[in-house]
Amino acid sequence: MSGSLSGRGSLAGRTALVTGGSRGIGRAIALAFAREGANVAICHRDDTSAEKVIEELRAAGAHAIEIVADVSREDPVLAMFAEIAETFGTLDVAVSNAGILREAPLLETSAADFDAVVAVNLRGSFLVCREAARMMLARPETAPAGRIITISSDLAFLGREEMSAYSASKGGIVSLTRSLARELAPRILVNAIAPGPVDTDMTSAETMSAEALAKDLATPLARLARPEEIADLAVFLAGDGSSFVTGQCYGANGGSAMY
Ligand SMILES: NC(=O)c1ccc[n+]([C@@H]2O[C@H](COP(=O)([O-])OP(=O)(O)OC[C@H]3O[C@@H](n4cnc5c(N)ncnc54)[C@H](O)[C@@H]3O)[C@@H](O)[C@H]2O)c1
Repeated sequence: MSGSLSGRGSLAGRTALVTGGSRGIGRAIALAFAREGANVAICHRDDTSAEKVIEELRAAGAHAIEIVADVSREDPVLAMFAEIAETFGTLDVAVSNAGILREAPLLETSAADFDAVVAVNLRGSFLVCREAARMMLARPETAPAGRIITISSDLAFLGREEMSAYSASKGGIVSLTRSLARELAPRILVNAIAPGPVDTDMTSAETMSAEALAKDLATPLARLARPEEIADLAVFLAGDGSSFVTGQCYGANGGSAMY
């Protein structure tokens, strides 16, 4: 394992990848990992905010790199893992967080729109999980192999009018997670987080209608989560305290879905 600068924290000496780490939930997870001592690679589509995040990660003591890669495309994902291998040598934790939301009535959703959402959210998760597993399993069998964390959504369970492609892609992530947890056991633990509404660009007026946001706020806790409240769960799933946890889907959702 490559050493962090701080040498302290529950993830000290570990290396993590967070896709979609340039803002929102991914940024919060990357920062929380860095504060726990991990070195971190973040990947994003093409965000100017990434540079600032890299500064924040380094200020927290992490060796941090950013990689621009479209997770829906195989070649950039392969290149991303090659860069991680070259920079860090090993990978302990992979968080497949990159995602997009499209809100549209079914009858106005083209096959291309559907494919675009599924390509980033589900195909992207498949590609990132596969390559993370390949890198983790290449370790000697005597070493702990790693942790994979996927990011689903409460809508995987609730469904949502005018968000069918998104909800379906997030449901697919839960099934992917469960299958990989079985296949990669016992060396890699694979779990999902299914957030409820979180205060990020995804829930801003540019991406989400006021009607959809109102539905999101109709939860027992009746508020948006801070991204850090999702990151806390990711730290748990990446660390030693979750060593007997695999194939689970955690709803950090303010009570929107209960299971
Ligand atoms: N915000 C919410 O309310 C909420 C709720 C449930 C689940 N989620 C999920 O959490 C994850 C993060 O969401 P967020 O709210 O932080 O979103 P966000 O829009 O703030 O950030 C999305 C991140 O994904 C990256 N990204 C988008 N498309 C990409 C691609 N093709 N390749 C690589 N990176 C790409 C962006 O660069 C960015 O870093 C998503 O999977 C989202 O579906 C969000």
